[in-house]
Amino acid sequence: MNSSSTPPNPPSGFAAIRRLVEEETAAVDRLILCELSSDVVLINQIGHYIVNSGGKRLRPMLLLLAAKALNYKGQQHVTLASVIEFIHTATLLHDDVVDGSTLRRGQNTVNTLWGNSASVLVGDYLYSRSFELMVRVKNLKVMEILSKTTTAIAEGEVLQLLNCNNAATTEQKYLEVISRKTAILFSAAAQLAAVLAEVPEPMEAALRDYGLHLGIAFQLIDDALDYRANPEELGKNLGDDLADGKPTLPLIYAIEHGSEPQSALLRSAIENGNRDAFREVYEIVESTDAIAYTSWRAKQEADKAVESLALVPASEYKDALVNLARFSVERSY
Ligand code: IPE
Ligand code: IPE
Ligand code: MG
Ligand code: MG
Repeated sequence: MNSSSTPPNPPSGFAAIRRLVEEETAAVDRLILCELSSDVVLINQIGHYIVNSGGKRLRPMLLLLAAKALNYKGQQHVTLASVIEFIHTATLLHDDVVDGSTLRRGQNTVNTLWGNSASVLVGDYLYSRSFELMVRVKNLKVMEILSKTTTAIAEGEVLQLLNCNNAATTEQKYLEVISRKTAILFSAAAQLAAVLAEVPEPMEAALRDYGLHLGIAFQLIDDALDYRANPEELGKNLGDDLADGKPTLPLIYAIEHGSEPQSALLRSAIENGNRDAFREVYEIVESTDAIAYTSWRAKQEADKAVESLALVPASEYKDALVNLARFSVERSY
């Protein structure tokens, strides 16, 4: 998110959610900055560049809100929220290299400014730091959840790589990819709050499901925004997915519902991974209502996320978790 761009919608909803855990989020930011430090100058430089570039801090907020909703009274939620954001940031440094992206959070990507090697290596550093930090919580279950999560993210990214330029992929395979590469981290954030709060197993499972459905909804919207967003507000370039030949749901749906010539054009765009075809592809995506379908699928997942919270006692924090699910599908950045 670029602080100089127009306020994104819906500002009031998200701002209100953020305010509820403002102090803890500030503590997370302080811990992240403190833990970033290294005597290797380039690590500091790049680490500060990416961490200070904005970012919605959605995953740490989710963990903090869930911990409060479950009446957790300790301080380890701040540590684990920082771990989650460290992991997220590491995946972004790697992802922008793999995707060849040049813009993130309204500024040049690390790979554009410092090169691919620096972006990958500092991403590795952030991963390692996250493990150092999580060990401090001294809880085997926490470590089990987080190590499984990073494995799943790596699997998701590799599965996606295998699917690139494959125009024959299915909605089901796509869902498998986004569950692993994105949703499992959201799920871990919510589940970790439950582990810290030492709630009974059904409640822990409820939080885990909430995070998973929310994460799927979040990535579905991300993939819709790659076709239809205000790039200034999004802080990323449109068409990155097409340029990589990524068969995301808007394309999968449009191939199935377009005319034969339209589907053939989309298949060839995926096979060739060509940004130049963006205009034509976009028009087909729109004319087949593929964005509307993707948003509808995201809304379904957000509804499932909210349903998963049925066991959680009523509180302003629970309301914020509900609103976070809504924000994830209504967002424009
Ligand atoms: C971007 O996540 C990566 C995806 C999983 C789509 P965010 O949109 O949460 O990124 P920041 O942290 O706010 O920049
Ligand atoms: C991001 O997916 C998933 C991870 C970072 C693991 P995308 O490639 O769609 O995310 P953006 O659009 O680059 O943020
Ligand atoms: Mg990407
Ligand atoms: Mg994307």
